Amino acid sequence: MSALEGKVAIVTGASSGIGRAAALLFACQGAKLVVTARRAVELDALVAEIEGHGGQAVACPGDIADESLARALTETAVGRFGGLDIALNNAGQLGETAPASDISLAGWRETVEVNLTAAFACAKYQLPAMLARGGGSIVFTSTIVGHEVGLPGMAAYAASKAGLVGLTRVIAAEYGVQRIRANALVVGGTDTPMGRAAAQTPEAHAFVESLHALKRIAVPEEIAQAALFLASDASSFVTGAAMPVDGGVSINRA
Ligand SMILES: NC(=O)c1ccc[n+]([C@@H]2O[C@H](COP(=O)([O-])OP(=O)(O)OC[C@H]3O[C@@H](n4cnc5c(N)ncnc54)[C@H](OP(=O)(O)O)[C@@H]3O)[C@@H](O)[C@H]2O)c1
Repeated sequence: MSALEGKVAIVTGASSGIGRAAALLFACQGAKLVVTARRAVELDALVAEIEGHGGQAVACPGDIADESLARALTETAVGRFGGLDIALNNAGQLGETAPASDISLAGWRETVEVNLTAAFACAKYQLPAMLARGGGSIVFTSTIVGHEVGLPGMAAYAASKAGLVGLTRVIAAEYGVQRIRANALVVGGTDTPMGRAAAQTPEAHAFVESLHALKRIAVPEEIAQAALFLASDASSFVTGAAMPVDGGVSINRA
């Protein structure tokens, strides 16, 4: 049997990069999907690709910072597919990058809103649906930035993403007895539009690669495999974890 047979999953940030790769993998493993991001055309193409392989998915486009979208995602999962078992709260943006004293409060707030508050809002609506199902798995996409390394210019991004680790641990503690697990992926450099935007010059790219023990960055499919592990029953005794999927950034010293 496939790892996610009979499961219903929400994937945010599914129009591109890690979220798109995870949505395709989850669908290939039998999950029925609700996918979201702002770009509806990309979402429709993703849904068509999933359906082309015999899977089921529904697109629910919108801005993740909009609380009504967070509610609609869970309502769609329950209305269309009968419940919710899995959520990959993955949507994120780099936001305003500058030395801390130069980051505007508006830029800070927007980054925290999209990366942290929206993920909380999604979880807030996902949890009751998972309770009704008798359990579930919530996965947040965090990063090495702020958790493992303090990369200059990324104060807002780092703070928002490190906040996800705290949120993960509290949800895991609160809902473990009710069979809901919560974990965070601590993701290293990954070849996506965001990854490329964060390291635009050959020198910056080489620096990012050098942070990793593997001396390379990931492809999105490698991160998707880790998300699948945390989403599925294969990780049934893993909760509250900030799991490095970082090519060895956490142990690399050279
Ligand atoms: N790439 C890396 O090196 C790296 C490393 C560590 C962690 N991460 C994290 O991995 C996650 C996925 O990023 P990625 O690398 O796959 O980059 P990506 O390809 O740029 O994907 C980002 C996704 O987030 C969505 N998104 C951004 N802002 C949104 C908003 N306001 N409302 C709705 N959706 C929004 C984007 O969709 P739309 O533009 O269509 O809205 C897109 O689907 C992010 O949370 C990122 O912080 C990435």
